[in-house]
Amino acid sequence: MASRADWDAKHRVVEGLLPGPDPFLAEARPYLALAAVGPQCLRGVDVASGAGRHAVEMASWGIETLAVDYSDVALRIAASRAAAAGCGLATRCLDLEDPATDLGDGAYDLVSVFNYLHRPLVPALKRCVRPGGIVVYKTYTQEQRKFDAGPRNPAYLLHERELLELFAGFDHLVYREACESEATAALIARRP
Ligand SMILES: C[S@@+](CC[C@H](N)C(=O)[O-])C[C@H]1O[C@@H](n2cnc3c(N)ncnc32)[C@H](O)[C@@H]1O
Repeated sequence: MASRADWDAKHRVVEGLLPGPDPFLAEARPYLALAAVGPQCLRGVDVASGAGRHAVEMASWGIETLAVDYSDVALRIAASRAAAAGCGLATRCLDLEDPATDLGDGAYDLVSVFNYLHRPLVPALKRCVRPGGIVVYKTYTQEQRKFDAGPRNPAYLLHERELLELFAGFDHLVYREACESEATAALIARRP
């Protein structure tokens, strides 16, 4: 299991080679109109943000965005990427596996999670979405073990259709499972 120090080291190594956002994030954008309640700025949180490739993209859409991760190194990189892109980005260093972790209640119009799974966090994720707000979630499934790279630990791998079960009670707007160069499940859902 990777520790915080392992993640800091990984983030340091890839700092100069940062990929862009997963294109699935952009699929959530049209649904944000449904989340808007007024002229005020939309608020978003990117959970387990790493170096901020999704958080910075959200901020570039004009969303007041918070990047949350437990790697200070990753958050520092995210903040400097946002500055370079001319957008504001707030960061918070938080251990998402601490049972006391609270992301707030109805605080966000857009909640994104990419390439991270900690099942006990899901109730807090669901709670932090504003009614009418959107969650976009994409991560690996069990089938990823067919490939050489990526997580192996079942704790980090979704079962078939599990993402739909985890977000039961939400309106499921887009759902896909794929097993091509990697095995993933991807969901866009709205809190009723
Ligand atoms: C595979 S990376 C994904 C990063 C980003 N979401 C992306 O897709 O580029 C997983 C991230 O989860 C963070 N992470 C792992 N365990 C964590 C924990 N307990 N609390 C907060 N962040 C954690 C790591 O620091 C790392 O940035």
